[in-house]
Amino acid sequence: MSNIESVLNEIRVFSPSPEFTRQANVSGMAGYEALRKAAEQDYPGFWAKLARETLLWKKPFTRSLDQSNAPFFKWFEDGELNVSYNCLDKHLATQPEKIAIIFEADDGKVSKVSYRELHGRVSQFANGLKSRGIRKGDRVIIYLPMSVEAVVAMQACARIGAIHSVVFGGFSAKSLHERIIDAQACAVITADAQMRGGKLMPLKSIVDDTLAMGGCESVHSVIVYRRAGCDVNWNDALDIWYHDLFNSQPTHCEPEWVSAEHPLFILYTSGSTGKPKGVQHSSGGYLLGTMLTMQWVFDYKPSDVFWCTADVGWVTGHSYVAYGPLAVGATQVMYEGIPTYPDAGRFWKMIQDHKVTTFYTAPTAIRSLIKLGSDLPGQYDLSSLRLLGTVGEPINPEAWMWYYNTVGQARCPIVDTWWQTETGCHMIAPLPGAVPTKPGSCTLPIPGIQVAVVDETGEEVGKKHGGSLVITKPFPSQIRTIWGDPDRFRKNYFPEEMRGYYLAGDSAHRDEDGYIWIMGRNDDVLKVSGHRLGTMEIESALVANPLVAEAAVVGRPHEIKGESIVAFVVLRGARPADPAKARQIVESLRDWVSKEIGPIAKPEEIRFGDNLPKTRSGKIMRRLLRTIANGEEITQDVSTLENPTILEQLKEAIL
Ligand code: PRX
Repeated sequence: MSNIESVLNEIRVFSPSPEFTRQANVSGMAGYEALRKAAEQDYPGFWAKLARETLLWKKPFTRSLDQSNAPFFKWFEDGELNVSYNCLDKHLATQPEKIAIIFEADDGKVSKVSYRELHGRVSQFANGLKSRGIRKGDRVIIYLPMSVEAVVAMQACARIGAIHSVVFGGFSAKSLHERIIDAQACAVITADAQMRGGKLMPLKSIVDDTLAMGGCESVHSVIVYRRAGCDVNWNDALDIWYHDLFNSQPTHCEPEWVSAEHPLFILYTSGSTGKPKGVQHSSGGYLLGTMLTMQWVFDYKPSDVFWCTADVGWVTGHSYVAYGPLAVGATQVMYEGIPTYPDAGRFWKMIQDHKVTTFYTAPTAIRSLIKLGSDLPGQYDLSSLRLLGTVGEPINPEAWMWYYNTVGQARCPIVDTWWQTETGCHMIAPLPGAVPTKPGSCTLPIPGIQVAVVDETGEEVGKKHGGSLVITKPFPSQIRTIWGDPDRFRKNYFPEEMRGYYLAGDSAHRDEDGYIWIMGRNDDVLKVSGHRLGTMEIESALVANPLVAEAAVVGRPHEIKGESIVAFVVLRGARPADPAKARQIVESLRDWVSKEIGPIAKPEEIRFGDNLPKTRSGKIMRRLLRTIANGEEITQDVSTLENPTILEQLKEAIL
């Protein structure tokens, strides 16, 4: 671990302007320090006070943090509330006609939904779910495109206390199958198809394929939103149209009051084994985290037009599309399509058209938009913007500078937000009216969050030394467990040697100002276009192909995607001598992975060898594979390698 050293030496510092600081929800470093100190002095009291002030409780809680069964922490447990009530009903008295969602479809068609309308639609859909026998605690899979209906579905589950699990529309039938079975879901909410970049991509038929695989007997309802109007196969025993379920229902639905610890959702994410983890979040603590970070990090103001570009299939789309913005009563933009359709000016045009003030996207999107049209932002009026944000992976300083100068016109602070599916909301991010930023650093932890960079024994390493990023104290929005696998939860996130700290799985270092610089994942998890993919998952998918005997997958730095996937494969037969044949096998394996996991997991490159480089004890030497994938000279010690000749074979790319 102590070998991890930073190579980045970024010295530029950008302080917030006096105007920004003056109007900020947390103003100046003094404001930040005051909150931080309050948390330090009385940690459970700090969170309890915020939970009382921020959330609406049906029944107030009497105890803030219960750590008697650590690491299974509980927050505000005897309090009762409803997340959907906190996101919708709350606004009915004060701002019923305020626009909650400005939805822009792939083809540019815009529709707007007020808080009153959204409340009515959620209530109707919640009643529809109840009419299918869906109750508190039942699991519901949501496999929908970016749409108001997706938010309605999530909020409706929350309203009746059902636990949703959203599966990103880019995942395959196999991935969906795995999640339905693990969650023992009773219903799937999907669409006939999704529209992205002018293309129609079926969803319902993928659900049909999934159910045909067998083992999904728990599913009694498939609710289908008619998005594209294309033909679908119909099974009367299971299928029901979204509009049929919805239209006949009253617009009132009494919320189900649940304990703050009641699971709000499960979201599957990749880890370092072949099986995705069902990250389970709570209701009260989770909502508190998303709301506070809307205020602190996004400096939310009632006049804002907020736009987080993330799909609801990822945690960012949960916290900063489906829950956080609604809970604070924001107007937000939601977009169905892709950033580059019809051209790479789409985001900038949408910012102009909807007068977006706060724009939150991923470094991978920024990099691809730079590549496809770095001067395009100049053709649009971006003067409404006041704050920019990034999430999902480290942002390289050049991309940061372009975002700052060209999109933000050197006027808008950038909040580089570090967090994870497991943390529920931002953990390390600048409060924009307080903390000066440095391109490429997510800066300092938000108030109430304490982090450290430690070695293998949990001992803090010095400044400028790399180590493992840990969060040293429990916090309300954290993962509660892995669905159905508490042992894996404990071992993965709270390993014994880490002294009870939450192990994030990232390596990082602190600079002389205490700023955190994330250096990447420490485990076998890749970040491809900001999406989290386990190397083991991809390897298992490859090995499931009858042609493949063995596979090892590594990441390779990629200009736009951040990382790309390189797979080293040992075939069951001999390595193909004919290049055309080799290319054909490569293509068939890439398609295979796409079908097994989803197009996002397709390896960029596949190479063949008679074997993989292994130590004498049989362990695959991944760092060697990484060197080879990067086309670098091997300078590592290969004396422990059982079969050194294999390296030459693996250096050969299939062109
Ligand atoms: O490696 C870190 C990276 O994304 C991981 C979490 O991925 P996921 O659960 O998919 O959530 C992504 C959206 C919150 C982290 O372990 N990561 C996320 N944000 C940043 C980041 N790396 C560097 N800088 C960030 N701002």
